[in-house]
Amino acid sequence: MVQEFKKVGVVGLGTMGAGIAEVFARAGFDVIGVEIDQAALDRGRGHLDRSLGRAVDKGKLTGEERSAIEERLAFTTSREDLADADLAVEAVPERMDLKRDVFGDLDRICQPGTVLATNTSSLSVTEIAALTGRPERVVGLHFFNPAPVMKLTEVITTVATSAETVDVVTEVAKRIGKTPIAVADRAGFVANALLVPYINDAVRLYERGIATREEIDASVKRVAGLPMGPLALADMVGVDVCLAVMDVLWDEFRDQRYVAAPLLRRMVAAGHYGRKAGRGFYAGR
Ligand code: CAA
Repeated sequence: MVQEFKKVGVVGLGTMGAGIAEVFARAGFDVIGVEIDQAALDRGRGHLDRSLGRAVDKGKLTGEERSAIEERLAFTTSREDLADADLAVEAVPERMDLKRDVFGDLDRICQPGTVLATNTSSLSVTEIAALTGRPERVVGLHFFNPAPVMKLTEVITTVATSAETVDVVTEVAKRIGKTPIAVADRAGFVANALLVPYINDAVRLYERGIATREEIDASVKRVAGLPMGPLALADMVGVDVCLAVMDVLWDEFRDQRYVAAPLLRRMVAAGHYGRKAGRGFYAGR
């Protein structure tokens, strides 16, 4: 029998963190969302409000269910408030200096038994685990955008992760209605190692003028029956996230197929990160 989790901390309430907080609260967990300052906290609450509001409008949630979910959600700008969390999920931007800061604090603040998870899509979970004094209780718990909708979660284990931690996190992933798959810590894990080079190839076709963005996206949708084309998907997941994944794949494997398309890098340099920035392949045009 694995330990019972009740209270979940989510550090970082951007698009992914807010979605993750929503998923846990909807599944009955007490959730405490942490942001760096009041403005970021307000933005995170805004994501959650809009998402829950949409679910009510679509008849997926009743007003009473929404109120019950909101009662399970608390917000703070102090990581110290995570002292009694059973599980902490980190979803801050993809920079190792930020992860170091968060995991240093979580390791100090949380009980020794608390499991620490990272939603990183591009950094090494092993390196993140090594930032703590409890690497056996650190895993990757990788959600997909939009987190409330996508069923897959990758449970990423390192050479240091204990079997008990894997079991408990896998069980929690099932309790929140996800389909967990166990994945070893390697660049891109499984889904992004397949998906992001495909997006990168689409960017290459686009930058070479082979077809318009609409034609590229429409052809994939028609041929593969996917809900979105690759350039629209890049805008949704973040052009910066796509570049970060390509760069770790290149760093780890030095294989030509993992060289980032020049346009991807230029767009990131220009701050055209996609939907979240209001500028991307489609966003803002
Ligand atoms: N938050 C919550 N719910 C959302 C949502 C959001 N941001 N966006 C859409 N939804 C919900 C809608 O409410 C709707 O729910 P119901 O069916 O219960 O009514 C459902 O999703 C479908 O939405 P829509 O009808 O508005 O639009 P759609 O049919 O075009 O679907 C989509 C939108 C779910 C995003 C769909 O286009 C899709 O599945 N796209 C592919 C997404 C994907 O591949 N994600 C993985 C990206 S890779 C990644 O994230 C990993 C990484 O590390 C980079």
